[in-house]
Amino acid sequence: MVQIIFVSHDGTARTLDVAAGASLMETAKAHDVPGIEAVCGGNCYCGTCRVRVSAEWRDRLAPPEEFEVELLNATGESHADDRLSCQIPLTEALDGLVVHTPEQQY
Ligand code: FES
Repeated sequence: MVQIIFVSHDGTARTLDVAAGASLMETAKAHDVPGIEAVCGGNCYCGTCRVRVSAEWRDRLAPPEEFEVELLNATGESHADDRLSCQIPLTEALDGLVVHTPEQQY
C-alpha cells in the first residue's frame, strides 16, 4: 500500500491508503479528491490535473518529460513544484507523498 496525503487549497488534508500501480490522477479521481478535473482522462493534453508537490518530495519523483513541462508552462500559472498528476505513477517509493491541490484548474 501507498499512503498519499492530498492537501486542498483551504489546508484540509485527506490521507488515502491505496494500492500502487495507478497514476496519482487516477487515484484522486477514484476517491473524489476535489481540485482534480483531468478532463483529458490522463492523456497529458488538458493540464487540469495539476498538483503542487511538497518540497521534500520534489527530487524523489522522476523528473517531468518535456511535454509535461510544456503543458504546465502553457497555463501561465506554473510553479516549479507543479506537476501533472496523470504523469505520476504511484509506486511503493512514493509512500507518504504529500501533494497540494489547487482551488481551480487552468
Ligand atoms: Fe489531462 Fe493530466 S489528465 S493532462
